[in-house]
Amino acid sequence: MEKDILILAVESSCDETAAAVVKNGRDVRSNVISSQIELHKLYGGVVPEIASRKHIEKINQVIEEALAQAEVTLDDIDAIGVTYGPGLVGALLVGVAEAKAIAYAKGLPLVGVHHIEGHISANYVEHPELEPPFLCLVVSGGHTHLVCVRDYGKYEILGRTRDDAAGEAFDKVARAIGLGYPGGPKIDRLSREGNPDAIFFPRAHIEDAPCDFSFSGVKSAVLNYINGCQMKGETYSQADVAASFQKAVTDVLTEHSMQAVRETGLKKFAIAGGVASNSSLRASLEEACRKEGVRFYYPSPIFCTDNAAMIGAAAYYEYLAGTRHGWDLNAVPNLKLGERQV
Ligand code: KG4
Ligand code: ZN
Repeated sequence: MEKDILILAVESSCDETAAAVVKNGRDVRSNVISSQIELHKLYGGVVPEIASRKHIEKINQVIEEALAQAEVTLDDIDAIGVTYGPGLVGALLVGVAEAKAIAYAKGLPLVGVHHIEGHISANYVEHPELEPPFLCLVVSGGHTHLVCVRDYGKYEILGRTRDDAAGEAFDKVARAIGLGYPGGPKIDRLSREGNPDAIFFPRAHIEDAPCDFSFSGVKSAVLNYINGCQMKGETYSQADVAASFQKAVTDVLTEHSMQAVRETGLKKFAIAGGVASNSSLRASLEEACRKEGVRFYYPSPIFCTDNAAMIGAAAYYEYLAGTRHGWDLNAVPNLKLGERQV
């Protein structure tokens, strides 16, 4: 039997300071997340400077807790995994510097991970049978990608957003109807009380790229609808706007995903990222996959939003593939999927 590989993973690309201990890429021994949401709420969105400062305050504590909950010490760890991009540069730097310091002090291999590769790998945690190739819809606050996972660490992007990310649209619409930050979970909740067919918001299709997305149109349509009501002195139903907007986004994400399923002929479809915890999107994709005869995989909500367990899962497969980063590893705010800093 091969030796177990225990990875200590660190994630600090946005507003969660997170650390986890993961065994053999799939067995999560601990998953500690310190969220800054309450702090950023005051400003209606993530303030990069505040995020960096908070990461510095929390990171040691979060790592100590991850080791304690896993009942291990740094002497038991085989490698350090860390998100080095994409994300907020100051926020990323805190995790990267911390990971480098621990790896250097303990003489451990350092494995830098792409944040989206982490999100995709969240699916490995709860689905031990899931192996590439499969399709994955990555929908988060910063990304909307339809990715073909050809093999571990081998990605082909089939579709991407031309403008706003899906989560960004959720957050902006939530702010416009007065729900506050972060908008996604609030729209999800309020939509249950609304009629998704009350208002028709546009579904954007890009003629020459059927797997690409665009969400700026639907966002503007919601803003115009609200302004129109206000100009006429009419009230509108927040719940109906939320539900109708959510339906428009869900329809497009589902339709384009199934287009990719048919194009590739792959029979496994996974979702990832913060928006993947949206109840309407999950239900719609589950139904569409059933109709197409495709197996549907989704992580629990705690593994959808930013966490370090997913980074530990991704780092394990990078580690097996021989990925090792040097002490010059830097934060890369616009790192592309499949691109490596060596
Ligand atoms: O993956 P994530 O934690 O961070 C990024 O890498 O961006 O995603 C955060 C995004 C936010 O835009 C948030 O509003 C959205 O995910 N989100 C949701 C839900 N939960 C989180 N969007 C829709 N429905 C949800 N239930
Ligand atoms: Zn993320």
